[in-house]
Amino acid sequence: MGLSFHHLERFLLEEEIFLENGLKYKKYFIELGGLKAKDHVLDIGSGLGRMAIPLTNYLHKKASYEGFEIVKSAVDDCSKRITKKFPNFSFRHVYIENDLYVKNGACASKFVFPYDQNNFDFAWASSVFTHLEPDAVINYLKEARRVIRPGGRFLATFFLMDQESIITSQKSKYPFKFKIHDAWYMSKISKGANVAFEEKKIVQWANDAGWKKAKTFHGSWSGRKGATTDFQDIIIFS
Ligand SMILES: C[S@@+](CC[C@H](N)C(=O)[O-])C[C@H]1O[C@@H](n2cnc3c(N)ncnc32)[C@H](O)[C@@H]1O
Repeated sequence: MGLSFHHLERFLLEEEIFLENGLKYKKYFIELGGLKAKDHVLDIGSGLGRMAIPLTNYLHKKASYEGFEIVKSAVDDCSKRITKKFPNFSFRHVYIENDLYVKNGACASKFVFPYDQNNFDFAWASSVFTHLEPDAVINYLKEARRVIRPGGRFLATFFLMDQESIITSQKSKYPFKFKIHDAWYMSKISKGANVAFEEKKIVQWANDAGWKKAKTFHGSWSGRKGATTDFQDIIIFS
């Protein structure tokens, strides 16, 4: 599959924002997630390397970065641009289906991450759970727990629903109009386009997956009061 329009658009028209966001997340990884320069890290849904690029001058040579992604051209592009110069950065293509990005492939709800258990100190999924259905989120929380060592951390971003954001988001630019079982969608046609979850449900699924703590930093997407960290909501699981 070629680079999707969504990717190309972002990369070509918003390159500055793309780089700026990566730098912001590098800061969140270090300051909120406790990322260290010696860590072995995993980037779930690594896209065009938005998070990887700013880490190339932070992670030590003996540290490692692994990213996996369902869009093959994005993986090829990152391997060409990043791995060539930084061999401790690896990108892997996985055949998973998502109705926004990839039409044919295996089901994310059954996908086993291609790594041994306790392999990583730190992992993240930035703007990925906002494209997954509930069963896939449940599986990815479990798989992240399996491949991250005890004491490691996992940062994930979401559109989180609670009593406040259910109301404020309806008047925002991001109204999730369709509630189906455990998720809210913006579009009934493409469920992978934008997905929101109840914050309590995510914390419950994370507990079931073996995560002991979940610390939330609410973002501004829903128009809620006092949200200062980022656009999407961030949860650090530990
Ligand atoms: C909005 S982009 C974010 C990309 C990257 N994480 C970033 O922050 O720039 C969402 C990414 O998730 C990937 N994706 C969608 N479903 C996935 C899945 N089941 N497993 C891994 N990646 C997935 C998409 O291909 C896309 O690259």
